[in-house]
Amino acid sequence: MSLKIAVMPGDGIGIEITAEAVKILQHYKRSGRLDVEMDEAPVGGAGYDAAGKPLPDETLALAKASDAILFGAIGGPEYDSLARELRPEKGLLGLRAELDLFANLRPAILYPQLADASSLKPEIVAGLDIMIVRELTGGIYFGQPRGIETDASGERKGFNTLVYKEGEVDRISRVAFDIAMKRDKRLCSVDKANVLEVSELWREVVINAGKDYPEVELSHMYVDNAAMQLVKWPKQFDVMVTKNMFGDILSDCAAMLTGSIGMLPSASLDADSKGMYEPIHGSAPDIAGKGVANPLATILSVAMMLRYSLDHAELADEIDVAVGRVLDKGLRTPDIMAEGCKEVGTIEMGEAVLAEL
Ligand code: IPM
Ligand code: MG
Repeated sequence: MSLKIAVMPGDGIGIEITAEAVKILQHYKRSGRLDVEMDEAPVGGAGYDAAGKPLPDETLALAKASDAILFGAIGGPEYDSLARELRPEKGLLGLRAELDLFANLRPAILYPQLADASSLKPEIVAGLDIMIVRELTGGIYFGQPRGIETDASGERKGFNTLVYKEGEVDRISRVAFDIAMKRDKRLCSVDKANVLEVSELWREVVINAGKDYPEVELSHMYVDNAAMQLVKWPKQFDVMVTKNMFGDILSDCAAMLTGSIGMLPSASLDADSKGMYEPIHGSAPDIAGKGVANPLATILSVAMMLRYSLDHAELADEIDVAVGRVLDKGLRTPDIMAEGCKEVGTIEMGEAVLAEL
């Protein structure tokens, strides 16, 4: 039976970059190496435009019926004034929650060819290879109660709830331990246990899960220190595991160490390794439609999809190599442009990867 992939370009540059990633899948399909069917559906602002909500019923149904989802990016200034429930972000958060995609893997890998694109000194980032494992369906993003209320005196208050159940912490920490076992066997759990009870529990549960992974060296770090250490000496980290909001923040920070947020893919997995794959950058409305967005993060997301959900690691390896070769040739989109390189647009970059395959 064919593998089913739902393609959700979303908004802004999501449309351009997804198109390049789809070409890679089509290439493998044409050459008979991947038996795959692709269906496209609107999400985010595009979902709102098509069906009046950011996660249309048909889009959700398609996501549920698919083996994997390729997601572009969502959001744009034209949607910012909508009610919170109708904003594009709700499409993404809805997919994560509805599909129980609790494990978000965000690798921060520095391609040696791009060492100069980082704002940090090359010796600090050379060879960087960190995996951030972010809990994605719990914590303050989803905790109840939440809202904005007016009290008796007429003053308004906004509130959210940061809550984690033991089971939620246990399952995400096991994903992180499993990944650490396949790497350098070092796991750093990031929390705020000096202030937050929820972090105190988090730490306890992670330590407990760790008893099943005696080979993994487990350490703990407060999130403020982790942010500092990431820019001070990032190579001290192998795998990091953390709650939803800390992971959101630290993964942007880690991404920038590699020079461009336009290079980094991500996977969001459920308990059976069904997953949604997306570049970690956003919809970049300022450059949308100009043909200059970097498609490599999305192309590398396809590689992650082949590896984690579709059981085609050999094709994933090929894509990783092809991206390296294209960088070796000096092709650069504007976000990673450097002296002596050749500046190319989205399509040219996509075609160059395809040519290497
Ligand atoms: C991310 C994004 C999302 C998040 C937004 C778009 C809802 O920043 O995937 O990191 O906060 O999770
Ligand atoms: Mg983010």
